[in-house]
Amino acid sequence: MSNWPELEKKYFMNTFTRTPVTLVRGEGARVWDEDGREYLDFVGGWAVNSLGHCHPVVVDAVTEQAHTLIQTSNQFYTIPQIRLAELLVQNSCLDKVFFSNSGAEATEGAVKLARRYGKLKLNGAYEVITTMNSFHGRTLAMTAATGQPKFQEPYLPLPVGFINVEYNNTEAIKAATTNQTCAVMLEPMQGEGGVNLPDDDYLSAVRAWCDQKGILLILDEIQTGIGRVGTLFAYEQYDIEPDIMTLAKGMASGVPLGAILAKDGASVFAAGEHGSTFGGNPLACAAGYATLKFIIDHDIAGNAREVGQYLSKGLENLKQKYEFVTDVRGRGLLVAMEFSSDIGQSALMACLERGLLVNRVKPNTLRFIPPLIIGNKEVDQALDILDKALSSMTG
Ligand SMILES: Cc1ncc(COP(=O)(O)O)c(C=O)c1O
Repeated sequence: MSNWPELEKKYFMNTFTRTPVTLVRGEGARVWDEDGREYLDFVGGWAVNSLGHCHPVVVDAVTEQAHTLIQTSNQFYTIPQIRLAELLVQNSCLDKVFFSNSGAEATEGAVKLARRYGKLKLNGAYEVITTMNSFHGRTLAMTAATGQPKFQEPYLPLPVGFINVEYNNTEAIKAATTNQTCAVMLEPMQGEGGVNLPDDDYLSAVRAWCDQKGILLILDEIQTGIGRVGTLFAYEQYDIEPDIMTLAKGMASGVPLGAILAKDGASVFAAGEHGSTFGGNPLACAAGYATLKFIIDHDIAGNAREVGQYLSKGLENLKQKYEFVTDVRGRGLLVAMEFSSDIGQSALMACLERGLLVNRVKPNTLRFIPPLIIGNKEVDQALDILDKALSSMTG
């Protein structure tokens, strides 16, 4: 059998800290490695496998579309793209859609849209206010938008026009707003920053400020959207509506697909001002349509809410048991456990040995982002493994 880690080291750029396991197959919330060992997957492709691995509705949609039409370019109309755009509009507060291939492309496109709006309606305003600990993607501009110095420092100088302010602090946004500001861009709940929830009134206060100043509110729902936090979109839980929203990750249950959605008033691109070769191709959109339709028809967001509460309760119990667990936080199936010291990697390895895959989102924090179709049984199993893993670390 090949030594895949060695070959990876030889041929692949050194960008990822890999967990030492080579996965070859998945079904539902389970994956198998090359030796046939089974794991319960609470990483879910980094919050991507919303319907789990190889869900039949996604497999069937992709298979049928692959036999029919894979790519045509956006020079032509294609039916899966239009059907998915319609489904997104019918089930959100937004009016228009543009498809990209990834999350970073969606947020970058959203910023371009806001800059275009600034040029047309706000006397050329172009600055976008974002928050510390945010994550908006890995392009150069989205690295500037992402308020985390560790991602920014290797690439200085960064593109201009981004102001990073403290999260959960409306006054900081107000202080950073000038006549050059065209938009505020936020994750409704921060994912990669460690799963940070806003205060209940933060998003409505930011919405009111954007309205007062006539600037746009962009919500990056790439991680929180498509049912992950217990509603189809996180904004529903805060009784606000964004002007622009970005999606990706869970939208096509593993097939790469991102989207920018905008209200009619913010949808100011003219023909030729934005584009993509692959974005919104029939294959990805067929997967997206099958995923989203299933999520809506079967209230998968409701399942994420209920199972998520059960998971959070179980993690709270472990917090009572282990004094080095200092916090449990999250919504739906986006949940984190924080430790008093940087033992995240040891906890991850102790879980791996026992057959549970988890994500170490910060040196002292684990994140749980399983498929949205899991039930309490899988949660019990994961909690049992986590309990044993944490217990092994106390000895
Ligand atoms: C909130 C948010 N925005 C943007 C991105 C970037 O998405 P992608 O990795 O698909 O470019 C991510 C990825 O983790 C994310 O969580």
